[in-house]
Amino acid sequence: MEVDDERFARHGVRLLLKRDDLIHPDLIGNKWRKLARNLDEAAARGRTIVTFGGAYSNHLRATAAAGRLLGLATVGVVRGQELADRPLNPSLSRCAADGMRLHFVDRSTYRRKTDPDVLAGLLDAAGAADAYVVPEGGSNSLAVQGCTDLGRELRGHADVVALACGTGGTLAGLAAGLAPGQRAVGVAVLKGGFLEDDVRALQEAAFGGPRGSWRVEDRFHFGGYARVPAELEAFAEDFEFRHGVPVERLYVAKALYALVALTQEGAFPRGTTLAAVITGAPFEGARPSAQSSTSR
Ligand SMILES: Cc1ncc(COP(=O)(O)O)c(C=O)c1O
Repeated sequence: MEVDDERFARHGVRLLLKRDDLIHPDLIGNKWRKLARNLDEAAARGRTIVTFGGAYSNHLRATAAAGRLLGLATVGVVRGQELADRPLNPSLSRCAADGMRLHFVDRSTYRRKTDPDVLAGLLDAAGAADAYVVPEGGSNSLAVQGCTDLGRELRGHADVVALACGTGGTLAGLAAGLAPGQRAVGVAVLKGGFLEDDVRALQEAAFGGPRGSWRVEDRFHFGGYARVPAELEAFAEDFEFRHGVPVERLYVAKALYALVALTQEGAFPRGTTLAAVITGAPFEGARPSAQSSTSR
């Protein structure tokens, strides 16, 4: 959809919103694109799906919902052993209600979960030794390949496509699907400056080499993952008011804010059409704690 916003119009720039938040009520936005091929694979092999996330992970909720919808068993490995003794927060309650078995692990083990020995131990302890493993954030090669559809759908519609990035899997696939001449900008929501290398590695694994034209914008993480300072909150509320589109705070708000700032800086020549991908929707219940949380 095209939005009428003078912050872009005064620079001769058009803004389109790619409403991936409307793809499916439970498998929202990039979650659907990243999970679909993995779900097919797990179902074909008749395996339980194991994946990983923090206490408010959008990815865990989406995986749990997919399990319910497709009749697949799911196990969520949750960062933070201490959470095991507390009542489940609304996000984890939703996962459990969708049939996901939750397995809590301490933060140091969680950090080392990609080490093959640590992973084997984790799967064993979770009672899912032969499970189909989907990494944290869902970004493996099948997920990246699934996200190429997002780029293909945007061919011929925009000069520059922007989206928020966590692991970079969505950007890696999107860029590969765009037409020559179209560019992608990924707005990092985590601090650290590692995203460019990660996107390169994800493209190498998924496609055997670099694809498309993309870059990472590292200036709009607002202090790091799940940091939503008052300025960003006010921006998101104002955007919702202006355009009637719900703005997910941890990712989408940062991408939209970045686009306004870049446009004001003159980063886009007059006549440019921008497309912002709305990769998610707000989850009621996640906000108060998510704002002060640093877990993914
Ligand atoms: C709403 C939303 N937007 C964007 C992203 C970023 O996706 P990626 O990890 O592929 O960079 C996520 C990831 O969890 C998300 O939940």
